[in-house]
Amino acid sequence: MTNPPLLIGNWKSNTTFAEAESLVDASIAAKQAAGEAVWVGVTPPFPWLKALKDKIVSQGDSGDQLWMGAQNCSATNAGAFTGEVTASMLAEVATFVLVGHSERRAIYGETDEIVREKLTRVIETDLHAVLCVGEVLDQRESGDAETVVKNQILAALEGFTNDKLHRLVVAYEPVWAIGTGVAATADDAENMCQFIREVLNERFGDSSNTIIQYGGSANEKNAAELLAKPNIGGLLIGGASLKPEAFTAMIAAATSI
Ligand code: PGA
Repeated sequence: MTNPPLLIGNWKSNTTFAEAESLVDASIAAKQAAGEAVWVGVTPPFPWLKALKDKIVSQGDSGDQLWMGAQNCSATNAGAFTGEVTASMLAEVATFVLVGHSERRAIYGETDEIVREKLTRVIETDLHAVLCVGEVLDQRESGDAETVVKNQILAALEGFTNDKLHRLVVAYEPVWAIGTGVAATADDAENMCQFIREVLNERFGDSSNTIIQYGGSANEKNAAELLAKPNIGGLLIGGASLKPEAFTAMIAAATSI
């Protein structure tokens, strides 16, 4: 059985608490209108997670409707690690965690090894992991994009076992498309997502339980075209997820795929 499209709003380091509350209200309404045809998640900043989770539950949404996610987690378990937020802390308030976002890799020096540690913590805590991969512009122009993406995936999934595939999402996010307003064409995004499917199938056998998303300047104008592609199973949405009308329109667009 194919999963419904999975749309995730990655809020990054944005929102006041009041803004976060109204974004959650809009996301719940859009998700309820879409029903089971679309899966929707958002990743608020850490300090808002608990209160937003309580708000969702108090509105009668057990969390099955709008999924709460975290943008990052610690590579370690609990202990003397000042400032770190562990996967087991997040498991009390979130359903999934983003791992290896290109901003974490580029700005905070997260290596493939750190990404693998984080992914392992997330999976062993029974959360879902959204593993972000993608090439920079030079790598695309030199024809190395597939090799880069394959290496990122295989490095992050070392030791990963087939029985966990349903808790894995892979988000293809070409770095040159993130926050630039220049999305990959639907064909280029599809080609890489198809390649990722092949990499996963080669590594694990049948990986059809694993959703593959596209991310990078996805918005209300290109969502339908991207989601219509057979290997694009969802979108990871930054800027547009902070605009309630845009995010709502994208969820609505996903219902007609
Ligand atoms: P963008 O961000 O939609 O603003 O390009 C996507 C992301 O970083 O996940």
